[in-house]
Amino acid sequence: TAPVIAIDGPSASGKGTVAERVARALGFHYLDSGALYRLVALAAQRGGIALDDVPGLARTAGAMQIEFREGRAWLSGEDVSEALRAEAVGVAASRVAAAPEVRACLLDRQRGFRAPPGLVADGRDMGSVVFPDAALKVFLTAGVEIRAQRRHKQLMEKGMYAKMPDVVEELRQRDDRDMKRTVAPLKHYPDAVFLDTTAISVDEAVASVLAEWRN
Ligand code: CDP
Repeated sequence: TAPVIAIDGPSASGKGTVAERVARALGFHYLDSGALYRLVALAAQRGGIALDDVPGLARTAGAMQIEFREGRAWLSGEDVSEALRAEAVGVAASRVAAAPEVRACLLDRQRGFRAPPGLVADGRDMGSVVFPDAALKVFLTAGVEIRAQRRHKQLMEKGMYAKMPDVVEELRQRDDRDMKRTVAPLKHYPDAVFLDTTAISVDEAVASVLAEWRN
């Protein structure tokens, strides 16, 4: 089977950017598992499924018609890439992701991305649950302030006004929910390489993951 590089870490740690660039450098496929949870949240919203209707959410996760093509995400044939990035969809995704039934429904879909010559998988539980046999596991993190600055910059670039203290608070709450939930909680596990990007650039983070891979 094709090798997997799993990159886990908290919200706004830069794991998406790093994972995508590592995948490009190696010519590997790329799985943005957060996008799957966001797609479930969006599909549920559009289908009138409430966020506490777990059987409905699980059905949605199993039945939704999705595609990733040219770096964009499609839901039932519609390009929803922009809609997926909305902060509200991220918050809904983190609630949807707390349901074990939903996570179970997404397991096979996620494993389906594994194909030669290899896969870089980005998420919270890639190395622990989805690809426990990953050849390389990286836990990428950064201090909450720097993650908030990055998220704030992203929001402003999208023309969405946000106050820094609110962004920090939002991230703290998200971390809390992600770490404390009973299914696939966010944590650094022993066989993952710990990479703190608080004081290093994206280029340096990418280089250090590639160096680990080539070791
Ligand atoms: O980085 P951020 O949390 O903003 O967004 P994301 O990576 O797109 O993921 C959205 C939400 O889905 C996260 O807040 C997690 O709660 C959840 N998620 C998860 O539980 N497991 C994954 N493998 C990926 C995302």
